[in-house]
Amino acid sequence: MTTKILTTTLTLLCSVAVWAQPRQEITLSDNWQFSLQSKAHNQQSWETVSVPHDWAISGPFDKKWDLQRVAIEQNGEKEATEKSGRSGALPWIGEGHYKRTFTIPQDFDGYAELVFDGAMAEPTISVNGQKAGYWAYGYNAFRIDITKFVKPGENLLEVDLKNLEESSRWYPGAGIYRPVKLVLTPKIHIDDWSICARTIDVNLQKNVANVEVNVNVENAKDADPSMRMILSLADAGGRIVAARSVVSFGEGAVSRTLPVPSPQLWSPESPYLYTLTVSIRKDGQDIDVKSIKTGIRTVRVSKEKGFQLNGVTRKLKGVCLHHDLGPLGAAVNKAAIIRQIKILKEMGCDAIRTAHNMPSQLQMDVCDSLGMMVMAESFDMWQYPKCKNGYARFFDDWAEKDITNLVKANRNHPSIVMWSIGNEIPEQNSEIGRQISIRLQGLCHALDPTRPVTQGMDRAEQALKSGMAQAMDVPGFNYRVHKYHTNIEQLPQGFLLGSETASTVSSRGIYKFPVEVTDNSRYASWAPGYDPNAIKTADGQCSSYDVEYCSWSNLPDDDWVWQDDQPWVIGEFVWTGFDYLGEPTPYDEYWPSRSSYFGICDLAGLPKDRYYLYRSKWRSAEGRSQGENKDEHTIHLLPHWTWPGRKGQVTPVYCYTDYPEAELFVNGKSQGRIKKNPKERLDRYRLRWNNVKYEPGELKVIIFDEMGKNCGEKTVRTAGKPVQLKLDTWTQSEGLIADGEDLAFVTVSLVDKNGTLIPDAADQLTFTVKGAGTFRAVCNGDATSLEPFTKPTMKLFSGQLVVVVQAAKTPGNLTLTVNDAKRKLTKTITIPVK
Ligand code: GAL
Repeated sequence: MTTKILTTTLTLLCSVAVWAQPRQEITLSDNWQFSLQSKAHNQQSWETVSVPHDWAISGPFDKKWDLQRVAIEQNGEKEATEKSGRSGALPWIGEGHYKRTFTIPQDFDGYAELVFDGAMAEPTISVNGQKAGYWAYGYNAFRIDITKFVKPGENLLEVDLKNLEESSRWYPGAGIYRPVKLVLTPKIHIDDWSICARTIDVNLQKNVANVEVNVNVENAKDADPSMRMILSLADAGGRIVAARSVVSFGEGAVSRTLPVPSPQLWSPESPYLYTLTVSIRKDGQDIDVKSIKTGIRTVRVSKEKGFQLNGVTRKLKGVCLHHDLGPLGAAVNKAAIIRQIKILKEMGCDAIRTAHNMPSQLQMDVCDSLGMMVMAESFDMWQYPKCKNGYARFFDDWAEKDITNLVKANRNHPSIVMWSIGNEIPEQNSEIGRQISIRLQGLCHALDPTRPVTQGMDRAEQALKSGMAQAMDVPGFNYRVHKYHTNIEQLPQGFLLGSETASTVSSRGIYKFPVEVTDNSRYASWAPGYDPNAIKTADGQCSSYDVEYCSWSNLPDDDWVWQDDQPWVIGEFVWTGFDYLGEPTPYDEYWPSRSSYFGICDLAGLPKDRYYLYRSKWRSAEGRSQGENKDEHTIHLLPHWTWPGRKGQVTPVYCYTDYPEAELFVNGKSQGRIKKNPKERLDRYRLRWNNVKYEPGELKVIIFDEMGKNCGEKTVRTAGKPVQLKLDTWTQSEGLIADGEDLAFVTVSLVDKNGTLIPDAADQLTFTVKGAGTFRAVCNGDATSLEPFTKPTMKLFSGQLVVVVQAAKTPGNLTLTVNDAKRKLTKTITIPVK
């Protein structure tokens, strides 16, 4: 008897000891088995892959994969035509199956869940042969309680995915493209997504911020009365700056306010993060502990002050981003996201809109730590389908669950400054649309009272007539800046946001003559301006003079006029920061175009000329936000100056600079000293010399400030013979991290003996990677290229491309050799992997 009591007591003690601390959070990345049934592959056999994984990114590109014969209503089309590259021309349609095992400890007696950050699409999850859960939307994070399905020892996890044709307007990716986590906790545990830390106020006089923390304890009813909850907030150095002990947590819901002395506020310029730790303790021992990063900052929108971060009015200098990472596809990768955010910050961008769906946790973590504000979006459609098999199939049953997960999974990220409940929702013309807006916005408020809610509306008159626009915290309008004035008169909010702007199109390094400002409707068979010959003779490229846009959109300059002249325009989100797979407008009906032209940077992440136009504006003295480096000027000249065959022909020259005045010289001959002219559409923000006649040699610009003082110069030279390959390596830290995931991005340029780019080079290159890593992908930014991203060979496009190499899990040296067989050029670099 005594022995029995003793054993029972010991077992109890042991179970507490095993499961009290630490909780186990295991990322399930390796050793997945994958098989696929699709038009492209009928692969019944299993292959080993690691997650994040995108089964379609290797191609092959083919227009037959998701050939859509549709009329794109949003573009104003009435008749269906063939759209070959609309969703990227990659084989993402089909049924994918993933399986792997995981281990549950022998004495496990707690709570087990799986956390998916997104799986494309319609994931069905089974554990040990039993269905454990399902989620409809491929973009959302979701959790599944698997406690009752697991057993001690080895367990089988299976994930079945289904991608239907015509379910997307862009490339959605395919597979388990975001991380999966197994979480094991004691039965009495912290509900991870219940944690909500929010800044109530910041009192500058008293130098204190109040942070309210809410958290739920699961199975609190079984809690021992001696259990305590400790809430503590540590600064970036790990010093505890505020703490509360909660003696009793009753039904499980705990809410406490932590006064934080000398708060360090989060902003894009100073992305200060705190660590909040929630722990349940008994007799001084941790039962469950969960730590999250968060920040202290306030967000407000008002008629009087517009958008304010930490009480300071600022205009959002944002870009929209689709989720794909170019040649990596949809598979998330930390290094790739860091590279994107750093490129954008260097341009002066301070915000992104996660168009048109839920972001990955990795992306939000990076935005938190590097300082990038975020509009976190949810849907591209509600009940009315924008494409045959899109989210409209699920909206009625799933919308509230999806918004709930979006907000709960993300509300502690200080980077997120607003939620978006939709993009160009067709219901904006109706009372139903207004009601759904109110309902979804209300749900966001209930889950997170601190952030305003917006949506991007493209039919201003309808949205104002139905009352949908007036119902939003932040009325967001997509394009049609000429309507801003009428819109604002009808908006009680007293301000509006350019939730989507520009949609200017260009191809890196491509310039067309004569320079023509055009909406490109000549390529669209449905448009009044259609010219059948134009598409026959088209090359699938857009001019980098940044003068091409779409019938519904405009040039960057047109947006800035409104932002600069009207205090009630609270900023913009440019379509888009980077090119993305799919939606090759204006070449929707042209094959082989298969990726976008909208990007400020191309699909490889290389800046187009437009990058410097935005930089000249966003980093200019008036464009800069408080705390930004005050010495960042921009002087950028275009086009390149290597034009054999154009001698004597008019070759306009543009300069993108924050300075007001400049003089241009061709081989020392002045082409005129000119000033920006606020009265002309293209001369307010650019300096243009429209009649320059090309002659090889040297193009030089000298820049002057308001006082006429010479402030700098820039020279562009005609390239000589291509004699060398230049390799520029980007890594997130010094060398690569030996974690099997870190990436280096190596820009390869073909140059002459002085390092001047050969701007039309299209040589076929090959790549060999040896040592501590592997070749991952290559991309040249050409939207018409059908060369696969994952084979180690590709042509240069406009003289350049980017090779992506991946670190091994063991340290060493990685060497990349680039070979140009035609010119017998080879270059090798070594990257340490530590
Ligand atoms: C918008 C839409 C975006 C993209 C863009 C292209 O109307 O919201 O998703 O299609 O047009 O210009």
